[in-house]
Amino acid sequence: MEVLFITSNEGKFREVEKIGRRYSVEVRWHREEYFEPQASSLHEIARISCEILSKKIGKPFIIEDSGLFIESLMGFPGPYSSYVFKTIGNEGIIRLMNGIENRKAYFLAIVAFFDGKDIHIFEGKTEGRISEAIRGNKGFGYDPVFLYGEKTFAEMGDEKNEVSHRRKAFEKFFRWLGKQG
Ligand code: IMP
Repeated sequence: MEVLFITSNEGKFREVEKIGRRYSVEVRWHREEYFEPQASSLHEIARISCEILSKKIGKPFIIEDSGLFIESLMGFPGPYSSYVFKTIGNEGIIRLMNGIENRKAYFLAIVAFFDGKDIHIFEGKTEGRISEAIRGNKGFGYDPVFLYGEKTFAEMGDEKNEVSHRRKAFEKFFRWLGKQG
């Protein structure tokens, strides 16, 4: 089986490609930076982006939208994760969290699949903490500030792919896909 994954993020594609192999799905990369509307939930962003893209692509594909939600910041940056990363980055996150004891955070991934007619949504969530400092050089985005156990995602490398939000969301999608026949 083959699915087309639309993303401009190589890190994401590489992770999903590996997850797909476990389910005998070949994930093909359609490298494109598409318009992402700003909305207050990742579900909404993923669904609207998928609807817009479906009119242009016209055949089945998947997209994925993720975000980092920090408990003591009321879920910030959440749906604004992309903008916040581009502006204040990981240094900014560490600064915002300076002196804050509750460092709980989670990553959420929303996969939206367009089957040629309808859109199907799958979700994955992984809980962790914000580290005290930037650590590790693997992965991408907020990986160096997201602690899963004692290591940051950026220190984990391939181990991240066993436990990540992306892994959970895509696992649900690939299992569902396998049942569609
Ligand atoms: P988007 O899903 O590409 O819109 O991602 C939103 C922001 O979250 C971007 O700045 C990504 O780099 C970051 N991000 C998404 N997934 C991950 C991840 O697995 N680890 C670290 N950062 C991520």
